[in-house]
Amino acid sequence: MQRTAIYPGSFDPVTNGHIDIAKRGLKLFDRIIIAILNNPGKQPLFTVQERLEMLEESMSGIDGIAFDTFDGLLVDCAQKSNAIAVLRGMRAVSDFEYEFQLALMNRKLNREIETVFLMTGLRWIFTSSSIIKEAARFGGDVSDMVPPEVNRRIKAKFGS
Ligand code: PNS
Repeated sequence: MQRTAIYPGSFDPVTNGHIDIAKRGLKLFDRIIIAILNNPGKQPLFTVQERLEMLEESMSGIDGIAFDTFDGLLVDCAQKSNAIAVLRGMRAVSDFEYEFQLALMNRKLNREIETVFLMTGLRWIFTSSSIIKEAARFGGDVSDMVPPEVNRRIKAKFGS
């Protein structure tokens, strides 16, 4: 039986840290579905379509990776996709409280779906989509934190 995990997030935009987690997740699961949350309540830099394109551009060559978008509950999307687990990356302690809440709520909503955390690679410990956008907005160089095509799109957004 194929073991599928869902790797959810905003991916606004995808970073090298996300890619590292997805690749390492493939050591544990046969298939990883990267699922972009379509959250109308948030004001993202990139549209869901742009985020999907960037994910596809950065990871299309990797066997076992699929892409999806979702709204509503993550556990419903996981169940629909026959995923047995939610995959999340954990960086510093600051991530822990939110991730703990998320995992416990998801478990309450669907006890069949486990959450699996992978520690972010040391290189990416301070990498987040938000901090990358903030640095890039003011002209900072983020080229070593995101795939080249993402870097190009960020520069185009900020006109730099
Ligand atoms: O990259 P992010 O923004 O940290 O990802 C957060 C995400 C998408 C994993 C989380 O917001 C989510 O799963 N949202 C969907 C709604 C849901 O199921 N929330 C958890 C139970 S209330």
